Amino acid sequence: MNSPANPLRICCIGAGYVGGPTMAMIAKQCPDIQVTVVDLNQSRIDQWNSDVLPIYEPGLKEVVEEARGRNLSFSTDVEGGIRGANMIFISVNTPTKTHGLGAGRAANLEFVEKCARRIAECSQGHKIVVEKSTLPVRTAEAGKRILRSSSSGATFDVLSNPEFLAEGTAVSDLLAPDRVLIGGESSEAIEQLAQVYERWIPRQKILTTNLWSSELSKLTANAFLAQRVSSINAISALCEATGADVDEVAKAIGSDSRIGPKFLKASVGFGGSCFQKDILNLVYLCQHFGLSEVAMYWEQVVKMNDYQKQRFSTRIIRTMFHTVSDKQIAIWGFAFKKDTNDTRESAAIYVCRDLLEEGARLVVYDPRVSEKQIRHDLEDVFKDSSLEVSQRHKRLIETNVSIASDAYQASEHAHAIAVMTEWDEFKKLDMKRVYENMYRPAFVFDGRNILDEAVLAKIGFEVHGIGRSNKFTN
Ligand SMILES: NC(=O)c1ccc[n+]([C@@H]2O[C@H](COP(=O)([O-])OP(=O)(O)OC[C@H]3O[C@@H](n4cnc5c(N)ncnc54)[C@H](O)[C@@H]3O)[C@@H](O)[C@H]2O)c1
Repeated sequence: MNSPANPLRICCIGAGYVGGPTMAMIAKQCPDIQVTVVDLNQSRIDQWNSDVLPIYEPGLKEVVEEARGRNLSFSTDVEGGIRGANMIFISVNTPTKTHGLGAGRAANLEFVEKCARRIAECSQGHKIVVEKSTLPVRTAEAGKRILRSSSSGATFDVLSNPEFLAEGTAVSDLLAPDRVLIGGESSEAIEQLAQVYERWIPRQKILTTNLWSSELSKLTANAFLAQRVSSINAISALCEATGADVDEVAKAIGSDSRIGPKFLKASVGFGGSCFQKDILNLVYLCQHFGLSEVAMYWEQVVKMNDYQKQRFSTRIIRTMFHTVSDKQIAIWGFAFKKDTNDTRESAAIYVCRDLLEEGARLVVYDPRVSEKQIRHDLEDVFKDSSLEVSQRHKRLIETNVSIASDAYQASEHAHAIAVMTEWDEFKKLDMKRVYENMYRPAFVFDGRNILDEAVLAKIGFEVHGIGRSNKFTN
């Protein structure tokens, strides 16, 4: 493959936060390889073909614009994409199951299975199928069985090539990854994929393993990262109770080279589509193999995260004289982290839910998240077990939630500000101007510890950060 007689042609099924950026990077780095990204979602594909991409990532637009129309295309023709390629990436979503066996823990592999069946139906000759989605261990085995059932006589090699990019830094992560992992059985197929990455990534960073090690490494990496966040968040509760400062503790322990400084930022809790889903998946796998102690150990990472979000809402309510009813709270940031428009599992959703239940009026501002997405997420979080939203909750979202066009507007006439996302622009605001337009006492609940408490206190704010007892009450 990839000889003049048989050039490499890539198709990626799934044009989401992973499929879009990874394929755009491959197309940019390998101008001689045709890359087609296909998805069933017409509006997503239309956006990839427009000036306003469906996802926000710093630097992504430039990468897409360089390759689109040259050797990168986006289409809804899934079958055509599969037929025309000899290497097919599966990059579809694998959310946590909401019903049936393993509900609330196991990954829903419906979309992956549908892709495998589609590939089996439309393929001819030999193809390499690459699992890019995060999958439970031994999914490749199931994939191989489905592919083997292809009636057209096509043959397949299956590789696992999990993606380690982080949203918000996807382009730089793809440009210079710590490592690329390729798991598989056929050394020839592994080599073909390795040669693609080798165009811009040093060979020693391309690790090869067996299929199962590769699948398990992705779940384990996310579990370890989330565990660090939950560990420092657990300590933040103790700091608030004792007068220690969690950022000082994080710096002190992070200076130990055995621990290291990364991922020790205390916050209102981690979000995003992956950490919780992948840990729960790991928990489910452990339970399946009868390892209940191991399952409980990892499950605690998720429980600690839920506790952290709920502790933040409770702190707001208690501090504001035990009631937020009819009080206006500015919600600064709604994305699960800065530099992305992704809101999946964002802590802001859960904090807003708790505050709305208490009757607060919320004015939300996020530089990249649309009003439609914010309202959709809030409706979603109020769904009951039959996936219905009560009339009361619908009304609450309609009457008590409004969207502002900047942080100043959100905090006008507010009783409090809750910083939910660490967007850089929040650090550059004229906080005197913010203060002048708020009610007194003007509370700030900094869920990301990004604002300078001493400066804010001097202006007159009452500031409550994560993992800090409040030294600055007026
Ligand atoms: N988001 C991240 O930061 C990240 C990082 C690493 C790995 N992952 C993993 O990558 C996978 C994809 O995640 P994502 O965030 O890109 O998801 P996403 O929801 O943004 O995108 C998935 C896309 O797949 C499409 N799709 C689903 N079924 C399809 C089918 N049968 N045919 C064609 N298209 C189909 C959907 O329409 C959607 O556009 C997941 O397994 C996730 O765990 C995500």
